[in-house]
Amino acid sequence: MLQGRLNIAYVALTVALGGFLLGFDATVISGVVPFIREYFSLSGASGDLKLGFAVSSLGWGAMAGNAIAGPLSDRFGRRRVLLGTALLFVLSSLLAASATSFPSFVAARIVGGLAVGGAILIAPVYIAEIAPADKRGSLVSLNQLMIVIGISASFFSNYFLLETGEHNWRYMLGVQMIPALLYFALLWLVPESPRWLLLKARDEEALQVLRQVGGEQQAQENLLQIRQSLGSKAVSRGFRGLLDSRVRTIMIIALGLAFFQQITGINAIFYYLPTIFSQAGGGVNDAFRQAVLVGVVNVLMTFVAIWLIDRLGRKPLLIMGIAGMALSLFAISWAFSQQSYNATLVLIAIIGFVASFAISLGPVMWVLLSEIFPNEQRAAAISVAGFWNALVSATVTMIFPWALSTLGSGGTFLAFALFATAALLFVVLLVPETKGRTLEQLESDLMTAKA
Ligand code: GLC
Repeated sequence: MLQGRLNIAYVALTVALGGFLLGFDATVISGVVPFIREYFSLSGASGDLKLGFAVSSLGWGAMAGNAIAGPLSDRFGRRRVLLGTALLFVLSSLLAASATSFPSFVAARIVGGLAVGGAILIAPVYIAEIAPADKRGSLVSLNQLMIVIGISASFFSNYFLLETGEHNWRYMLGVQMIPALLYFALLWLVPESPRWLLLKARDEEALQVLRQVGGEQQAQENLLQIRQSLGSKAVSRGFRGLLDSRVRTIMIIALGLAFFQQITGINAIFYYLPTIFSQAGGGVNDAFRQAVLVGVVNVLMTFVAIWLIDRLGRKPLLIMGIAGMALSLFAISWAFSQQSYNATLVLIAIIGFVASFAISLGPVMWVLLSEIFPNEQRAAAISVAGFWNALVSATVTMIFPWALSTLGSGGTFLAFALFATAALLFVVLLVPETKGRTLEQLESDLMTAKA
């Protein structure tokens, strides 16, 4: 049993390295921007547009990755898709670091985006499908932890590589090959998801994995449960099954969570953090230092979430965290609508917001998405919800500068605050608690409840 436990933490951590890579890959660009502008001679209005395109190309690639990762992982297995993302991470890093033309740079970043889109969805699915029920929340949250560590790591790495001469931006992008190769190598050591193996009627292999996770008796029980759940209902697999009326309500919950995670402004705040802080007064240097502080808070509070999620449950974390997000957003809005900004209040409220996000919608949305769907639809459903999440994120970060100049900072943050209030209502009224139940118990609860 003990050995099984050790095993599963190692397995989850290995798979969550994908989270590190995607967090790193997404934000590494912030340090590269000034240098590729010069190298590719991107000046004037058309240069700005091209630069914007280069920065956003990862996001477009990620959406494509979101859309195909679910079906591919149903077909070829979760592990093979993760191995594929590891290779794509290596490839994109190599191509971006050695790009000598603008189109080849963009193409390299799109390849990276495919990897990001795949890893962000399939790592949680895999971990949820292999984890024992009582640890599933923390183990899936490891992925979010690694994402936020990856984000901070890229800031540090860019900073250290800044003075390495004219090729500095190539090193910033290329350094990622090391963790990506490590990810590729380590993934060979983790087993395939037992629930996917059972979907493919590979019972013997599934049993072997379940045994490693929870010992003989637990494995037999799980096997029986999973088999029963697979045989108990005539729901189509994949995308078609999502139209089934019994899955529809679960889908609405998933889409709602994915929407609220982004419409409350987390990525607008992250991507424009120094800009927001400079608006509140204070120098540029201060603004960058404050941004680092916010990153650290994000990482620390994700640890708190990992610690609490299987103890308190998902719903209490969501309710507390979203209430904290709403209060902080109202405070930011209020601070910005005063005659003279109170920079300290803005800083405290932003830290309050990020801390509240990090114990609630940040990790908990990914945990819930990985557990509320039946085995047959999980991967297809998470493709849809992940794509939707990325689309809302891209839209919010795209219109944020425009919103600041038309609604003002006070008005923009008031809008985020109202969305957070709506999110709170949504969670209280609709979101189920999933703590401590096996995926199959959840499936029978949620599907019968909504039949
Ligand atoms: C979650 C969100 C992601 C965000 C991150 C910040 O993973 O899905 O969009 O950037 O949290 O911590």
